[in-house]
Amino acid sequence: MNNYDKYLSPIGRQLQESAIRRMGTVVARGTDLVSFAPGYPDAALFPWDDLREIAASLLTGADGNTLQYGPTRGYQPLLETLVEVLRARDIRATIDEVIITSGSQQGIDLAARVLVSPGDVVLVELPTFTGGIAALKNAQAELVGVKQQPDGLDLDDLDEVWQRQRRAGKTVKLLYIIPNFQNPTGSLLSLEKRRRLLEWADRRDVLIVEDDPYGSLYFDDVATPAETRPLRADDVNGRVLYLSTFSKTLAPGFRVGWMVAPAALVERFDTAKQSTDLTSGILDQRIVHEAVRRGVVDRLAPTLRALYRHKREVMERALRESLIDRLTWASPKGGFFVWATLPTGQTDTELLERALDHGLVFVIGSAFFVDGSGHDTIRLSFSAPSPDRIVEGVNRLAAAIAAAPVGRTS
Ligand SMILES: Cc1ncc(COP(=O)(O)O)c(C=O)c1O
Repeated sequence: MNNYDKYLSPIGRQLQESAIRRMGTVVARGTDLVSFAPGYPDAALFPWDDLREIAASLLTGADGNTLQYGPTRGYQPLLETLVEVLRARDIRATIDEVIITSGSQQGIDLAARVLVSPGDVVLVELPTFTGGIAALKNAQAELVGVKQQPDGLDLDDLDEVWQRQRRAGKTVKLLYIIPNFQNPTGSLLSLEKRRRLLEWADRRDVLIVEDDPYGSLYFDDVATPAETRPLRADDVNGRVLYLSTFSKTLAPGFRVGWMVAPAALVERFDTAKQSTDLTSGILDQRIVHEAVRRGVVDRLAPTLRALYRHKREVMERALRESLIDRLTWASPKGGFFVWATLPTGQTDTELLERALDHGLVFVIGSAFFVDGSGHDTIRLSFSAPSPDRIVEGVNRLAAAIAAAPVGRTS
């Protein structure tokens, strides 16, 4: 039997795959492929020695609970540690407002499953993270895009979109936003806009899902930690659900992220999580907890910032050398991505085809847009490849752009 379509439920039938995951499959197939596709951290910077020592100390067999089922809400000492981590970000939360998730991706999924009814409108940035799009669409949200400006979300457009949806009789329940070094654009929401956005959410009675994987990865030549202040830090009315993760600051393989939300909602997320995974990996949580407790994560952060800043410089220098008259982009102030606009007449999908022929993969810009636009954009991730491979990848990109059929460029 090889056709299972008739067994699929309507939801099973319409499940969305993340475009970035799809690109990951291409990367796995390739041989000499340079990948600017997934936002993977640089594996050379995983703190291997510390982690080996921590894992060995936990796996002595002395404590059976190390490999036992754990509480759905999360490993209690890690929850307590997270309250401290959050305080350093100016977020005051109690333990009953925190839940550990299997990566922040699960936080988005839980928020979508618990809060969204089929047909509810969820507002998202244009463009936004494909994993967010997938989770929200799978909960049958109607995703409506809001324009971005160089300093983040366009608040005038936000309110116009909200009013239009309300006039159409829709319930606008959530805004999903990535204020710090946004995926895919790299943009940083200004402090003034953060303040106004919270006021807007109160006025319009909308909950905000704030996704913050990259906040501590600012480039200190162009950004300060103060500029990454979470919305949740100034949320006095319980409007903001804050998500973060150890994926970019320690290692994504642990799948340890967390969500901060009003206690009444955390209860609901806890129940929803029970039917998904019972608990996030307890060994992973214990290793992460030890890594935070021993100061490994804090010690690593400046190194990560310096390395990713360097890689951004390498990519931008290479882009300036070979593509300055063909591509436009805004220099990111942190995070993993350069977001570029293509020469007039070239499209992301055609360019990707040619790039693959030249041994390069990236993510097409249109995958990040919920309104079908963005075909003149691409996302280039500089986080994982070595500096040499970044230069090689940009050279391949230049060759692929130059190889456009005559008449397709201007
Ligand atoms: C904006 C954003 N949210 C969530 C995630 C998922 O992170 P995690 O590995 O913690 O699930 C990513 C990963 O790329 C991301 O860029």
